[in-house]
Amino acid sequence: MFNNMNKLGRNDPCWCGSGKKYKKCHLGKDNDRELCSEAPVDDGSFYVVSPSIKKGNVTPMRVVPVNIPHPIYATTGKGEGKGRKQTILNDAELAIMRETCRAARRVLEKGLAAVKPGITTDEIDLVVHEACIAEGAYPSPLNYHGFPKSVCVSVNEVICHGIPDDSPLREGDIVNVDVTIYLNGFHGDCSETVAVGAINNGSQALIDTTRECLNIGISAAKPGNRIRDIGRAIQVHAHNHGYSVVQAYCGHGIGKTFHADPVIPHFYDRKERGKIKPGMIFTIEPMISMGEWDHKVWDDGWTAVTIDNKRSAQFENTILITEDGAEILTKL
Ligand code: MF3
Ligand code: CO
Ligand code: CO
Repeated sequence: MFNNMNKLGRNDPCWCGSGKKYKKCHLGKDNDRELCSEAPVDDGSFYVVSPSIKKGNVTPMRVVPVNIPHPIYATTGKGEGKGRKQTILNDAELAIMRETCRAARRVLEKGLAAVKPGITTDEIDLVVHEACIAEGAYPSPLNYHGFPKSVCVSVNEVICHGIPDDSPLREGDIVNVDVTIYLNGFHGDCSETVAVGAINNGSQALIDTTRECLNIGISAAKPGNRIRDIGRAIQVHAHNHGYSVVQAYCGHGIGKTFHADPVIPHFYDRKERGKIKPGMIFTIEPMISMGEWDHKVWDDGWTAVTIDNKRSAQFENTILITEDGAEILTKL
């Protein structure tokens, strides 16, 4: 549906599917979700603002056995120091990457299975940390640019990069568990958002739509399309459900390094004209918010929360671009 829209001009039909000319619709207002149709009525239960998430106590960094290969930053607490260029993998490397990504999904499943009212996010961190070690893998977040724990756990209005601490999950919360592992020289990255016990309909709708956004983004990730077609498809779907798309955090190339080119915005960004080509490996990881798209970061330097404390959800897969589409690598 979005093919042949690569040179969107003022008089072309708007990318959002309204049928209006771009200049009469979203031009200069690519972010305005009021312009999209079908936003849900706010009956007071739909847009949830729960008691805000507070910072708890963070336990010391966990230790990974020395026989498990560590990425370079494990000791430096910096980045990867290799630049952002992505290398295209040969068949042998691809076979390893597939295994790494499958293992990442197994670890994520264990982390998600631990979610229940009363468990602390630090206890989820322990489950994920031990699941990594059982796979012979290093938990990629640990000491990445100084990140202090082995997994990101993001509750309610936390968009991403939540640091596990001693705060217990409460019935009615939504929680994203974002697992990345480093195994046999490659990183695999995936996340899901799930309910803590029973949640209200609005929160469930947010989770469902966010999963759809990921899948719609993956469908747009194919040769012949441009990078920006992925975000365009995601943004249309989110806006049609009355949600906004977080802009500050994007999908990313991944493989021998945790974060490589290309950058994958989850919103429509005209500048991202790069073509999607077979052999590319990147994540798609839309963060979809009930209220405003904008965010702020806590003074811990990591925890990203919505500007209005409304809830945000996220799903993530690592994918490989094939000749005619995409192969999801982070699946069982
Ligand atoms: N897993 C996150 C992503 O999807 C990155 C986490 S970086 C960390 O890109 F340092 F916060 F762990
Ligand atoms: Co991730
Ligand atoms: Co990622």
